[in-house]
Amino acid sequence: MRLGLFDSGVGGLTVLKSIKEHKLFDEIIYYGDTARVPYGTKDKNTIIRYALEAVEFLKNFEVDMIVAACNSVSAYAIEEIREHINLPVLGVIEPGVKALLKRDAKPKDHILILGTTATIQSQKYERLLHANGFLNITALATPLFVPLVEEGIFEGEILDSTMRHYFKDIKDPDFIILGCTHFPLLKDSLQDYFPNSILIHSGEAIVEHLQSNFDITKSSNSPTLKLFASSDPDGLKRVAKLWLS
Ligand code: DGL
Repeated sequence: MRLGLFDSGVGGLTVLKSIKEHKLFDEIIYYGDTARVPYGTKDKNTIIRYALEAVEFLKNFEVDMIVAACNSVSAYAIEEIREHINLPVLGVIEPGVKALLKRDAKPKDHILILGTTATIQSQKYERLLHANGFLNITALATPLFVPLVEEGIFEGEILDSTMRHYFKDIKDPDFIILGCTHFPLLKDSLQDYFPNSILIHSGEAIVEHLQSNFDITKSSNSPTLKLFASSDPDGLKRVAKLWLS
């Protein structure tokens, strides 16, 4: 089976890594729209247009399934993609909430959602969490993390001061939903900042969702990867080498 996976840039590689490690699919085609990253600062119609263009690109490879490895797309464009293409299409938001539920989160637990401005404004995580009885939710847009990750800055002084800036009023979350696929690349620094919090990662959430809801061939080898980017494909391949090795 061939999977088409896309994101605005390198962030979706965090989802690719989890799928690859579990040896799901024979082949994965990855598209990062690096010419137009970030998506999370764009309006809904622009995100939908970009997402449909990414899907058109992936269609050329006759993929069997599409994963939007981008929360901003998952927040605004999943229905439009499903109307556009006759294939299973998955976003990362619902699997992320399911992963939280599986980790025995309790309604009174403090859940911190981190995401792009678009994802936080959509309130999609909050609505799903409310529907599952969660009451103590903080939703925080942290868009500066996206260019840091695109620049390959995963730790150090600039990230530390960005975290202090965003987190100065945040008290002890029990769970942190990494509601942007770029953010797992910062997981070590985020975990150092919040040592007692459990981080929820979209990649692992999608793997759990794929394994329990679809009949996916698990191959004995890692899937073959084909990586594409709308600008600077070598830059994307460099991050992939670092992150996927
Ligand atoms: N990685 C994406 C997400 O999960 C988008 C980041 C961005 O392009 O702003 O939302």
